This record gives sequence, structure tokens and C-alpha cells, in this order.
Amino acid sequence: MTRAVNDVPTTPGPADDSATVQAPVTAPWWTTAVGYQVYIRSFADSDGNGIGDLPGINGHLGYLELLGVQAVWITPFYPSPMADAGYDVADPRGVDPSFGTLSDLDALVASAHTRGLKVVIDVVPNHTSDQRDWFVAALAAGRGSPERDRYLFRDGKGSDGSRPPNNWTSVFGGPAWSRVDDGQWYLHLFAPEQPDLNWDNADVWADLERTLRFWLDRGFDGFRIDVAHGMAKPEGLPDAPEGTLAASGQPTLPRTDMAEGTATAADGSAAADSVAAGESGGVVPSAPAADPRFDNDGVHDIHRMIRRVIDEYPGATTLGEVWVSDPERFARYLRPDELHQAFDFSLVESPFDATRFRQAIDSAAVAATSVGSNPVWTLSNHDVPRPVTRYGGGAVGTDRARASLLVELALPGAAYLYNGEELGLPSVEVPDDKLQDPTWERSGHTQRGRDASRLPMPWEGDEPPYGFTEGMSTWLPAPAEYATLTVERQLDDPGSTLNLVRTAIELRQRNPAFSGTEISWYGAPSGCFAFRRDGGGLVCALNAGDTPIALPPGSVLLTSAPLVNGELPANAAAWLIP
Ligand code: GLC
Repeated sequence: MTRAVNDVPTTPGPADDSATVQAPVTAPWWTTAVGYQVYIRSFADSDGNGIGDLPGINGHLGYLELLGVQAVWITPFYPSPMADAGYDVADPRGVDPSFGTLSDLDALVASAHTRGLKVVIDVVPNHTSDQRDWFVAALAAGRGSPERDRYLFRDGKGSDGSRPPNNWTSVFGGPAWSRVDDGQWYLHLFAPEQPDLNWDNADVWADLERTLRFWLDRGFDGFRIDVAHGMAKPEGLPDAPEGTLAASGQPTLPRTDMAEGTATAADGSAAADSVAAGESGGVVPSAPAADPRFDNDGVHDIHRMIRRVIDEYPGATTLGEVWVSDPERFARYLRPDELHQAFDFSLVESPFDATRFRQAIDSAAVAATSVGSNPVWTLSNHDVPRPVTRYGGGAVGTDRARASLLVELALPGAAYLYNGEELGLPSVEVPDDKLQDPTWERSGHTQRGRDASRLPMPWEGDEPPYGFTEGMSTWLPAPAEYATLTVERQLDDPGSTLNLVRTAIELRQRNPAFSGTEISWYGAPSGCFAFRRDGGGLVCALNAGDTPIALPPGSVLLTSAPLVNGELPANAAAWLIP
């Protein structure tokens, strides 16, 4: 897909001898779509209870049309005690009353389809809620029962069984095992309220198939598979080798500087601290190969089963959450009989650095295309600090986030935005007594978790909750920092991040310069890069250095910041056409 460093000319020039691979006209929608993640609790509330809901989404589909995205991914709306904001599912084929009803969901899908929007929803196959009927039955039925066999119950170690069966830790902190009244332990890689399913049990397979068909029959266009590198566990649940579990498995935990309360304010305060912290890593890395909790080979049979079901529904797709950093192991999930696509988190894990971005792009592109899939780019989601904050916060963070968006949207493949990313929202820290993420309690109040990136969307007005709800309060606070970043304000400002993203998506959809599935890199000054889409010739230049740089030849289509004397300023990106 991308070329080796040494193969490229030093400036963008006439097309060379590279093979140009045009996307076939019939390429499925998901191969090139710009998708938009709606974090349901925080998008729009229709009934005044301060929690976003399905009619709230339905009432704002016009906004998604205006934005120009082609697909919406809705996070879990299933009945749930909300121990992990809905990722603890008590009934995979229902709707939690706080989000609406099945009829609301049907209305939402119909309305989205009328507008030409595809709808993707989460499925959570690694675990259930502890309130699911199955787990309640497992507790009641006792040790050795078929009901317990749907989960991972084990006896503990030591003569009285009082030590956990192995040394695994939960991604949210603390041991991955909890003990029940009769002395057995059960495994939960996440919160204790999220018991892991036993994927060696036939009921578990049959239940997922039933769930997939249930939603596909209702007209959904695909699934985002939660923890798609989980599910299968190694034979005998062996101890993890020392050092492989620390802060690994899934990069859900924000970096330390946010835990210490220095998340960036919209006015740029704390920017300097955050730059240093953001560039030193940002999020916890993906699971290392030696971590036995994730990426076990047995998972691929499960993905093959999922694929067989999906293939019965033409046009439907799967998008895995695969936090596996080894490109070859990552690619295994994308083989033709497994997932259609998987989020590649290498851009999320990169600091704002041209070399690191380029490496991330190359490795992701090679991984996906090596098995005939194509990349799905993302810079943000509900589990990680927002890009503005990761890149330093304030004006610098915003400039870098805007530049990164142009890089992402210039790349071949699909791309997903996270609600509020198009507004350039920063993560804003939540006071201790309002924190909801289980990480806060599980880590003994040392990790604040992900709430700072899950705050309600600011729609309009000057005061919290900015049109998010007509109620008096919101499930997480709507911060003062969002007052200048509302949709209403940004629509009126031609230079806003919202208008930048709208323009970028429109160009990406309509301009023939964006055709083709390959890119070539050009030589560029240190701290910068430029690549060209081999099909249509679009050039994207990034200046992640300190001083303005001359643009490559071509006419400027769009820039993330105004040019300075015709040059691209620091922390900016530009699109050019031949
Ligand atoms: C995924 C979700 C995250 C959730 C976890 C456990 O990583 O994105 O929000 O906490 O799975 O279900």
C-alpha cells in the first residue's frame, strides 16, 4: 500500500511508475465511509433526565447530514445497570428504558436510512452484566452446574481456596477475579459487574449468533465488536509472566497528568505540562504479546462464526475493537473470513510527531491491506483523552487536532470521528464526587478514568448544559470550557473546527483527487511529511515542526490554519491538488 522511504521522489511531482489502484466503483460502503461515533449517554437528551437517548439521536440526524458523514456508530443502548456506562449488558436484545424503546430504535434506523446514513451498533461478546439472567442463574445453581459453565468460575488457590485462581488483573485495576458466597471465583477482565463469558460453551456461541441475527433482521448495517481481541482464553488460565499485565490489555486509562487533575482547559491553561505529558505517550499501550488475557488464537474461530452470519446479510459489516499492536497479529483479525475491518489505534497511540504518524500510517495500511482489508482510521473515542488535550491543550492542542483531522481524512480507507471531535472539544476533568468511570474506584482513586472525554455535547446557548437536555442536571457535568465551542457558535464561524471538518468531508466525498487506495510519501523537512494519493493525486502536507515551511507544488484545496506568507505554519496541515 504505502511505499518504502527510499522509493520516493523528494518533492511531489508528476505521477511516477507506481501502480495506481482505483477503488472499484462497487466497493462496499464501509471501505471508504466517514463514520461518526455517537456516545449515546452524552449526545442529546430528549426526556430531560440528563442522559442522552435514542429519540435525542433521532432528533439530531440532520446534524450528521450537515456534517456529511456516511455512517453512525451508536454505543450500547441495551438494558444495563450501567456499572460501565452500558458496556455491562444485561439483555443483548433489548433497550434500556433510560434510552428509549425498541420502537424508538426502529424509528431511528428508518430515519437514518432515509437520510442515507448507515447504522452500526456495539455488540459486547467478551462479557455480560452480573445482572444478566445467565449470571444470576449461575450464582443460584452452584458449582459444577451447566449455568456456571457459561462463565469462568474456578476454585481459588491455597488450602482454603482464598487466593484468586491466577494473577490476572482487571483492566480497570485490582484483581480480575471476584469470589462468590460458596467460595468459587469468577473471572472479569473489566469490572466485577462484567463477568467474562466462557467461549468454550456452546450456549455462548448460540447466543451471540441469535443477537447478531436479531439486530440484522431489524435493519442494522453492522456491528462494532467490543474487545474483539478478548473472548478466547488460554487453556488452563495460566498465570501471566511477570511484567506483562502492568497497564496493559486495553488502553482505556488516560495518562497520569489527567489523573493528577491537569487536564487542559479550553483557554489553554496547563498547556505546557500537557504537551510534555501528551508527547511522552498519552495512553496506555496495547496488550503485549505475552499478556495471556488477550489475543489468544482461539478468538479467530469466533470471528469466523460471526462472519458466516454477517455474510448472509449483504451490505452488513463488522468493525473490531482490536487493541493489538503487533501488525502481523492485528492483520490476522482481518483475514477474508474474519472481521471486515478493525479500528487501527496506532494514530491514537502516536504523539503529534510527523515520523510517528508516518510510521503509524504505514504499519496500519500494510497490516490491513496485507490480508485484503482496508484501514479504519481513528484519532479519538470514548476511552481515550481527546486529541486537543493529548496534543497539549489550548490553542496549540486545537491547532494540532485540526491538522491531524486533515491527515486522517486524507488517507485511503474509512475514518471514524468521535462526537465532539468535530467541535475540537478538549477533555475536561470531572470533580471527584461526580466521577462515574469504574476505574476511579477500582484503582483506589489513583486513576480518574475516562469521564473527561465523555462530557455532554454542547449544542447551543451560553450556559451549561448548552441545549443537551431540558432537564436541570446532566449525568456528567457540562463544563464552562465548552461555552465557546457549541455547534451553534461554530456554525456561524467560517474558521471553526466544525466548518473545517464539514468542508473536509465534503471534499473527500466529492473531489476526484481522493480516489485510489495507495499513497506515496515524499521527502520533507524534518518534523514534516507529505503524501500523495496515487489515484487522484491529492497531496496532504503536515507541519509538526516549529517553523513555517514551503508548501509542495499544487493548488491549495484546504488548510487547517491560515497560511503565513504563503507557507504552512507549525502545527498545521494542508491539502493540495495537482
Ligand atoms: C471497550 C469499550 C469500553 C469498555 C470496555 C469493556 O473497550 O470501548 O468503553 O469499558 O470495552 O466493555
